Amino acid sequence: MSPTVSTVTSPVSTPFLTQVAPNPANGPSARFFAEIGIAPGMRVLDVGCGNGDLSRFVAQLVGPAGEVIALDRSAEAMATSHAADVGPHSAPIHYRQADLADALPDLGRFDAIVGRRVLMYLPDATATLARLGAFAKPGTIMAFQEHGRAGLPAGLGDLSLHRRLYDWLWDTIRAEGGDTKLALCLVDLMRAAGHGIEVVRSEGVLLQAGEPSFLPTLAQAMLPRIVECGVASAVELGLDTLAERLGEEHRAVGGTIVWDLAFLVSARVTLSGQLS
Ligand SMILES: C[S@@+](CC[C@H](N)C(=O)[O-])C[C@H]1O[C@@H](n2cnc3c(N)ncnc32)[C@H](O)[C@@H]1O
Repeated sequence: MSPTVSTVTSPVSTPFLTQVAPNPANGPSARFFAEIGIAPGMRVLDVGCGNGDLSRFVAQLVGPAGEVIALDRSAEAMATSHAADVGPHSAPIHYRQADLADALPDLGRFDAIVGRRVLMYLPDATATLARLGAFAKPGTIMAFQEHGRAGLPAGLGDLSLHRRLYDWLWDTIRAEGGDTKLALCLVDLMRAAGHGIEVVRSEGVLLQAGEPSFLPTLAQAMLPRIVECGVASAVELGLDTLAERLGEEHRAVGGTIVWDLAFLVSARVTLSGQLS
C-alpha cells in the first residue's frame, strides 16, 4: 500500500464542560489507532504505556478475544493504570515492567506494537525499534504517536507568553535527554528498521479563545521538572496567575492557536525487515 500523507487537520471540537480541560494532545489517538488495522482478537503490545490510557483504548479495539501487554519501566505509572477500569468489552491487559533501552523479556509475538510519546524519551530509539522487531511477524502493525518541537505556537498575533511556555516545556524535555526532533524523523526511523510505511499523518493540537486551556494543568504537572532542569523558576512560571495571563493573551489576539502537532505513523513489518 502506498503511504497516505495528510497535513495538519483540526480535531473534531469537543465542548469543554468542566474547568479542567482534557489534554487535547491525546485526542488524535482515537482517530488514528482505530483506523490502522487493529482488529478484534489481536495481540497488542503498548510500549511506554504510562497510565495506560492508550492500552485501554486498544484493549477495546481488540475486544475480549484479544490481549494487550502494557509495558513501562515505571512501576509507579503502571500502578495508576492497574487502578483504572478496562470496561466489559475489552481485552485483558497484562502489565510488564521493563526498560526499552535494555534487553527485553520474551513476550511472544504480536499482531500490533503501538506507543505514544515514548520513542522521544529513549536514548536510542533506532535500537529499541530494532529490538521490538523480535516481537513482530510479517504483517505486524507498528504504530506510534510522537510529538516534537515544531516551531510553534502559531496564531494571529503576539503570543509571547504562550511561546515562552512552549520553549520552557521543550527545553525541559531536551535537558532531560529527550529527542525533541524525533517526531520529524519518525518515518525515516521506521523505514530504516525495515517497516513498510502505510499511514503518515499530523494533527494539530488547537486552542480556542474563550475555552478553558489545558496549558496551566500541563505547566503545573511539568513545574518540578522545569525547575529541576534549571530551565525556569517557579516565580518565572507564576502558576497562580498563569491561566489568567494565558487567557488574556489569547483573548487579545483571538482566533485559534496551533499549540502542538501530533505525528502519527503506522507501518507494517515486512518479511525482509523482520528481525528475530
Ligand atoms: C510521556 S509518557 C507517555 C505515557 C503513555 N504512552 C501515554 O501516552 O499516556 C512516557 C512514558 O514512557 C515511559 N518510558 C520512558 N522511557 C522508557 C524506557 N526506557 N523504557 C520503558 N518505558 C519508558 C515513561 O515511564 C512514561 O510512562
